[in-house]
Amino acid sequence: MATFLLSALLGYLLGSVPFGLVLTRLAGLGDIRQIGSGNIGATNVLRTGNKPLALATLLLDSGKGAIAALLALWWAGPEAAVFAAGGAMLGHTFPVWLRFNGGKGVATAIGVLLAVCWPAGLLACLTWLLTAALFRISSLSALVAVALSPLTGWYFGGPLVGGLCLFIAVLVFIRHEANIRRLLKGEEPKIGAGKKKAA
Ligand code: G3P
Repeated sequence: MATFLLSALLGYLLGSVPFGLVLTRLAGLGDIRQIGSGNIGATNVLRTGNKPLALATLLLDSGKGAIAALLALWWAGPEAAVFAAGGAMLGHTFPVWLRFNGGKGVATAIGVLLAVCWPAGLLACLTWLLTAALFRISSLSALVAVALSPLTGWYFGGPLVGGLCLFIAVLVFIRHEANIRRLLKGEEPKIGAGKKKAA
């Protein structure tokens, strides 16, 4: 049990590094939380117009989740990796450094899924890309991808991975509450649309 708790703590600490916020500050773009949707993720960093920075945010937010899960896998095995993955999701979405108000967890979810159960991670990526190609809305793509992941996670990884995917889906839906409201009103901006007032 202590091993699982330590894995979750390791995941939380790695997941809590707010790369979008750090990178935009280092690039002199100010506080990303005052721009666009106010989110610290890659989609909102893209609204600053700096594509390399958005890509770096995507890779680092995914990478921290993947590294947390892979470290726990190497240290204590696949079950510990699932706990580290859950911890990384909590760290990204509720980081202690930002008074528990963090990101929406999509890039980190992709990273942890690729590390814990790569077929489910790959299918989540493909679902995101297909939905984005059809509708060009980042939040909608994320919601569809995580909504399907409990099924693919369970199918390819068994009940524990399916449970992790369900946990991820619930977290991502909770963090997308404002996006869901905008989607229902037909007001959600398309990918690459410029800055808009913080929601
Ligand atoms: O990955 C986050 C995305 O699903 C929504 O981001 O900035 O449009 O709220 P945003």
